[in-house]
Amino acid sequence: MQYKRILLKLSGEALMGERQYGIDPKRLAEYAEEIKKVVDLGIQVAIVIGGGNIFRGVAGASNGMDRVQGDHMGMLATVINGLALQSALEDADVHTRLLTALEIKEVAEPYIKRKAIRHLEKGRVVIFGAGTGNPYFTTDSAAVLRAIEVNADVILKGTRVDGIYNEDPEKNTEAIKFDHISFDEVLKQGLKVMDTTAFTLSQENELPIIVFDMNTKGNLLKVVSGENIGTKVNL
Ligand code: GTP
Repeated sequence: MQYKRILLKLSGEALMGERQYGIDPKRLAEYAEEIKKVVDLGIQVAIVIGGGNIFRGVAGASNGMDRVQGDHMGMLATVINGLALQSALEDADVHTRLLTALEIKEVAEPYIKRKAIRHLEKGRVVIFGAGTGNPYFTTDSAAVLRAIEVNADVILKGTRVDGIYNEDPEKNTEAIKFDHISFDEVLKQGLKVMDTTAFTLSQENELPIIVFDMNTKGNLLKVVSGENIGTKVNL
C-alpha cells in the first residue's frame, strides 16, 4: 500500500445521493463499504465530512443570516453527518470514534490530538466533526488541519469528478485532466481544488492532495494502493 494513514475528505453533498437534501442511506452504506475495504488492509483512516447537504453557512449569509450563526449551523450539520457515517460504518463492523471540535460530549468525544492518533493506531476510523470549530473556515481547511495534526500521509478528496481539469469538465467536454500537478501550477492557473486557506496550508506543510471520484466502487482502494486514477497535487 502506498499510504499508511490517510485523511479522507467527503463533501456533505455527496451524502445526498440522488436526493436534493439530507442523507441517502444507500449512499452512506456504499461509502461505509468502500472505507471498510481499506481499513481491512490495515490502512489508518481519518475522515472529515462537510455539511452542505444540510446547511451551508455561506449560503445562509448570502440570504441575510449572520455569518457566524450560519457557520455554527454548518458545523453542527457536519456532526449530524459524522454521526450518520459512524452508524453506517459500525453497521459494516468497522470500529469508529467521532471527535468533535465543538464540545458536545454527550454525543461525541471532544477532539484531542493525542486521542485521535491513539484511536488511529488502534485501527479505529476517526471521524472529525464540527470542522475546525471556528467560523469562517471551511471543512476543507479542517481536513488539512487535522491531516497535519495527526500526520496523515495524504489528503484524499473524494468528489463526483475524477480529478482536476484545466476547465470545468461538467461544462466543457474538451477539458483536459491532469494526472499530477504542482501546488504552484494550481495557483498559477487559478484552478479550484480547495479554498485558498486550505490549499495554502496544505502546500506549506507539504501535504499532498489527491482528488478522485469517490462514487465509483473500488476507487478508494485503488487510490490508497497508489494507482493513478485521480489527480495528485504535490510539490
Ligand atoms: P482507548 O482508551 O484507547 O481504548 O480508547 P476508548 O475510546 O475505547 O476508551 P474510552 O474509555 O475513552 O471510550 C469508550 C467509549 O466512550 C468510546 O465509544 C468513546 O467514543 C466514548 N467516549 C469517550 N469519551 C467520550 C466523551 O467525552 N463523550 C462521549 N459521548 N463519548 C465518549
